[in-house]
Amino acid sequence: MSSSDGGQVQERIESLREQLNQHNHSYFVLDDPQISDHQYDQIFRELLELEEQYPQFQSDSSPTRRVGAKSDSSFAEVRHAVPMLSLNNVFSSSEAGEFDRRIRDLIDVELVEYFVEPKIDGLAVSVIYEHGRLSLGSTRGDGESGENVTGNVRTIRSIPLILRTETFPSLLEVRGEVYMSRSGLHELNERQKELGEKTYMNPRNAAAGSLRQIDPKITSRRPLDAMFYSIVRCEDQPMPKSQFEQFKRLSEYGFKVSSESVLVSGIDACLDVREKLLGKRDELDYEIDGVVYKVNQVEHQEQAGYVTRAPRWAVAHKFPAQETTTVVLGIDVQIGRTGAVSPIARLQPVEVAGVMVSNATLHNEDEIKRLDVRVGDSVVVRRAGDVIPEVVSVLTQQKKDRGAEFRFPSQCPVCGSEVVRDAGASVNRCTGTLICTAQIKRGIEYFASRSAMDIEGLGTGIVEQLVNSSLVQNVADIYRLTEKQIIELERMGDKSARNLMSAIEKSKQTTLAKFLVALGIPHVGESTAVSLARRFGNLDAVRSADAEVLEGVPDIGPIVAKSISDFFRHEHNQNIVNQLVELGVQFAPSETDVVTDAKDAPFRDKKFVLTGTLISMGRSEAKKRLERLGANVVSSVSKNTDFVVQGENPGSKADKARALDIEILMEAEFQNLLSDMEQADN
Ligand code: IVH
Repeated sequence: MSSSDGGQVQERIESLREQLNQHNHSYFVLDDPQISDHQYDQIFRELLELEEQYPQFQSDSSPTRRVGAKSDSSFAEVRHAVPMLSLNNVFSSSEAGEFDRRIRDLIDVELVEYFVEPKIDGLAVSVIYEHGRLSLGSTRGDGESGENVTGNVRTIRSIPLILRTETFPSLLEVRGEVYMSRSGLHELNERQKELGEKTYMNPRNAAAGSLRQIDPKITSRRPLDAMFYSIVRCEDQPMPKSQFEQFKRLSEYGFKVSSESVLVSGIDACLDVREKLLGKRDELDYEIDGVVYKVNQVEHQEQAGYVTRAPRWAVAHKFPAQETTTVVLGIDVQIGRTGAVSPIARLQPVEVAGVMVSNATLHNEDEIKRLDVRVGDSVVVRRAGDVIPEVVSVLTQQKKDRGAEFRFPSQCPVCGSEVVRDAGASVNRCTGTLICTAQIKRGIEYFASRSAMDIEGLGTGIVEQLVNSSLVQNVADIYRLTEKQIIELERMGDKSARNLMSAIEKSKQTTLAKFLVALGIPHVGESTAVSLARRFGNLDAVRSADAEVLEGVPDIGPIVAKSISDFFRHEHNQNIVNQLVELGVQFAPSETDVVTDAKDAPFRDKKFVLTGTLISMGRSEAKKRLERLGANVVSSVSKNTDFVVQGENPGSKADKARALDIEILMEAEFQNLLSDMEQADN
C-alpha cells in the first residue's frame, strides 16, 4: 500500500485490532476460542507489520503492545482515589449467622439478598480506564496507596486494553484479583526448574512475584490471569445499583468474572453455596481460600457502612487452611513396588484442612537438598486436594542448632541391595527387585488390589505376615495357600479365613486387562491394559508381541512398548505368569474385549475424550457404549484424538481440542451418532 492509501491502512489496522481484541476476549475471558492459534498468529503478524510500516498509526491500546518497555528500577507510588479495603473474616456458620443478624439490624430487612463470590487466592489490583482505554493498573499496597504496575497489568491477556462496550464511561475504576491457575503454576515451575531459577511455593506467591517484575517481558511470559468483582468509580454512566449489576456490567465491559458467583436470599443459602464450593475446591483450576458474602444492594451497603479498613456489609467465610506448621520428628525412606525409594518426613501430628497428618512426602533426594530439611525443624506442611501431604518449606528463622544433614541411603534399608539413581532421573531405586521383601510386599498388595485381581481382605497387615512367614514369596504363592495356613495367622478368625480363601478362589476368574494390570508391568496401568487386551484378545498374543507390534497399539509409545516386551522376556516373569495360569487363573472375555474383536467395529481405534457433564447419560455409560463400538476413551486431548465430546461446563480439554482443530461433538450430536452407530452395529 502506498502512503496515499493511509485511510485504508488505518481502517485495516483498526479492523485487525478489533478482531484480535475479540479473539482475546473469547479465548482468555470466555474460555471459548473461535479460531486456532495459528489463525490468531496470522492476524497478529499482519497487524504488527502494518504498524511497523506505518508508525503514525501506532497506539498504546493496540494488542501488539501488551508488552511494553521496562520501567526503571522500581514502581512509582499510586494513591488510590477510593481506598482498597480488606475483608473481615468469619470461620464458622455461627459467626456467619452473627454477621447476618448484624446486617438485618442495620438495614432493617428480614431476608437479606447476598451476592456470594469465591475468594480467589491471588493479589488485589485496581485498574483505571479513561475513555475506555486502560490507563493505570496498581497493586493494593497498604490500601491507601500502592505501586504502579500498569506495564505488567497490560500483559495479562484476560484484561481488556479497551472496554468492549459501545460507549465508555469517561472514567472507570475496577477492582479484582490477579492470580495464577494451578496448571499455570505447575508449568511455570517446570520451566523455572529447567532454567535453574527459583520455583514458587503456591499460586499466590507466584502471582505476586510475577506481577511485581520490573521487566514486563518477564511478566508477559507468566501465566497470569485476573478476575474482577467490583466497580468503584464510573463517571458519566450510572453506577450499578447492586453487586449483581456490577458483576454483569464488568462482564459486558469485557472483564473475566467468576462463573461461581451467585445471587441468593438469606444466610442459609450463602452457607449452601459455600458448602458446594468447598466440595468443588479441588476441581477448580485456581485456588480459593473461602467465599465472600456481600450485601447485594448498594443502598443497603451504604446503610451498613464501614469499620476502619473493611466494609461492614461484606465478610469472607474462610475455608480450612491447607497449610500449617509442625515439627519434623524423623526422616525415613519407603520402598515402593517398583523399588523407588521415597523419603518421608514423620511429623508431630497436626490437623491440615480437616485431616490429621503425621507423615508428609519429601518427594526425592533433590527435594530434600533443596529444602535442607532436618530432624527437629519446624516446617510448613500442605495438603492440597486429596494429594499426599507434602513439606513445602522449612521455617528459616528457626534454623539454629540443628542436627546433621540428611544422607540419602546408598543401600536399601530393607534388603541391603544397592540403591542407584539413573542418569537424568530424579528417583533413587533399590536394585533388589526379586529379593527385596518391601518390593515383594508392595507388589502383592498391588496384585490383590481392586483394579487388579481384586482379592478382598488381602490387605497390608496380612501381606506383611504372609511374606514375613515365607508362606508367600511371590504372587503365585497366593493361590497355593491353604485355609489352615491362613487360620494360623495372627488376629485371624475362622470366618475371616474362610472369606479370604473364597476371595482368592473367586479372583481366579478375571479378565485379561485386570490380569495385565496385576502383573505390575512398569508403565502399564488400567487404560493401557485395556488397550492391550482389546488389541490382542489373549495372553499368549500379548506376551509374544515384540516392541514394534506393541507400538502399534493405541496409546502405547516406544517406552511403554519396550517395558512390556522386556517384562515378558524376563525368565522370572515368564515363570510366574505360567504358574498363575497353571494354578487356575482364567480370563473371561470382558465386555470391552469382545466388542473390539470385531474387526469392523464402527469406532475401531478411534480416540474419544469426554469433557464436561453429560446430561443424558453418565460418563461411565458414555464410555461403555463407546468402547462397545470399538472406541478408545482416553483422558487427555492430543493431536491423535479423533473426537472430543463436550457436555455442560466443559474444562480446558475443549479449548485444547479447538486449538488442535479436533472435531467437537456437542451432547445432542454425540447422542445421535451413538445411536446411529449402535443400530448399524446390530
Ligand atoms: S471484596 C470492599 N471480593 O480478598 C471489599 N475481595 O481481604 C474488598 N479477594 O484485598 C474486597 N476475592 O484481594 C473481594 N470476590 C472477592 C475477592 C476478594 C479475593 C481478596 C482481595 C482483597 C482481600 C480482602
